[in-house]
Order: sequence, then structure tokens, then C-alpha cells
Amino acid sequence: MAGTTLLDIKGVQTYYGNIRALNGVDVTVKQGEIVALIGANGAGKSTLMMTIFGAPRARAGTITFAGTDITQLPTHEIARMRIAQSPEGRRIFPRMTVMENLQMGASLDNLKHYEEDVEKVFTLFPRLKERIAQRGGTLSGGEQQMLSIARALMARPKLLLLDEPSLGLAPLIVKQIFDAIRELNRTQGLTVFLVEQNAFGALKLATRGYVMVNGNVTMSGTGKELLANPEVRAAYLEGGHH
Ligand SMILES: Nc1ncnc2c1ncn2[C@@H]1O[C@H](COP(=O)(O)OP(=O)(O)O)[C@@H](O)[C@H]1O
Ligand SMILES: [Mg+2]
Repeated sequence: MAGTTLLDIKGVQTYYGNIRALNGVDVTVKQGEIVALIGANGAGKSTLMMTIFGAPRARAGTITFAGTDITQLPTHEIARMRIAQSPEGRRIFPRMTVMENLQMGASLDNLKHYEEDVEKVFTLFPRLKERIAQRGGTLSGGEQQMLSIARALMARPKLLLLDEPSLGLAPLIVKQIFDAIRELNRTQGLTVFLVEQNAFGALKLATRGYVMVNGNVTMSGTGKELLANPEVRAAYLEGGHH
């Protein structure tokens, strides 16, 4: 089903009170793609991620997933459509162990696939297996990010949303995380929508990308095109590590 549109965001406007954070955003993610959304702090990237889950709710526009209009669906029903996320700040359960966090991720299917899927995420992130009985809050930042992604994967998502997975992590750990995302996409065909301030890393990983400025998408193209674009280079890549 390559080339089929999985997520279709059209004309989405989202407000915080009277302040409009998204000004009519159009983004599409096709089956099997890694799509990156880049932009400066405060551009509205996280707001778009959260709007997909209905919190905050889009005040205009439509969000369609796998052919179903999910714009007004309750958040738990959106999760049931097999959209999973690793939100900004990881949001793992700090008092629960690694295993309990992963069980929470698998609860959508009453742990039916837990044994099988936990082996897969431990193959992807062997560090988590070593720390299975450790409380989430005592893990390093990189390990918490791995746990956050692993927990999302336990829900067997058709679409994985990642909000700033590289934020605050050392370059070597960022590479491990990005390699894992690439591996998931390549071997399992997992579709990924990735939000990043790390424009270079994200665009290198992505099939396609979008640039967001002040609640508007201002540019889009393949990862390669955006990496080569002079405006993108000047605004997001100059002075960065590349
Ligand atoms: N809960 C909130 N209440 C009010 N304003 C918010 C809230 N969350 C974000 N904003 C504002 O919305 C805009 C977009 O923020 P955000 O989506 O977090 O941007 P990004 O993820 O690109 O850094 C910013 O101006 C931010 O201050
Ligand atoms: Mg953000």
C-alpha cells in the first residue's frame, strides 16, 4: 500500500484561548514514509502533534487517518485507531519500572502480544532489557527516550508520532535513536511523523519534510531538497553540526 495517504491534515487551526497557534496547516503522511516537521521553538510543532490526538482540539479543518475523519474523535478512540506517540519530554511513568511502562503501552490489546513485542523492542534497544526492573525516573535521558518510543511501539501503531526525540541528548545517543527509527521504517515499514528542532538529523532521516513558522507551513519537499535549500540552510542548519 505504498503511496497511500495515511494521515491527511487539511486547513487545521488550533487555538489556546483566543490565541491562534496553528493558522490552517496542511500536512500529509503517506504509508511507509518518515515525514519530518522542523521549525524554531514556539512555531507550533507540538501543538500540531497534540491536535492529531484531539487535545487541544482543532477549531477548523480536518484530520483524516486511514480514510476516517478523526477530527472530533475522543483521544482514547484516536489511540485505538493505532496512532501512538512519544510526546515532548518523553512522559514515561517515573515510578513504574521499565517493564511496567512497556505493559502500559501494550494495554490497548490487554497484553495479548506483550511477550512477542517486548522481545522486538529489546532487540531494538538492548539497554532497556538490562534495565527492565529499574524505575523509569532513574533512567538516563537517552534511556527514557528509548523507553518512550518502545512503549509507543508496544501498542502496535500504524503511525508513530515522535515529538523532539533528540532534545537534550548527547550526539551518540541521538544517532542510536535516529538509527532505530530508520530501522523500524526499513524493516517493518512503520510510518513515522517526526517533529524536530534538530533539522539536520531529522531531514537526513526523512523521506519528506515540512517547515513550520509561526503556525504556518512555509515550505515542504523531500528531505534532500530541504537540506539543500538555501533558506532552510540559513535558518536552521548554519552553525549546526553537519
Ligand atoms: N498550553 C498552552 N497555552 C497557551 N499557549 C500555548 C500552550 N502551549 C503552547 N502555546 C503557545 O503556542 C505556540 C506554539 O507552541 P508549541 O506548539 O509548543 O511550539 P513548538 O513545539 O514548535 O516549540 C507558542 O507560541 C506557545 O507559546
Ligand atoms: Mg514542541
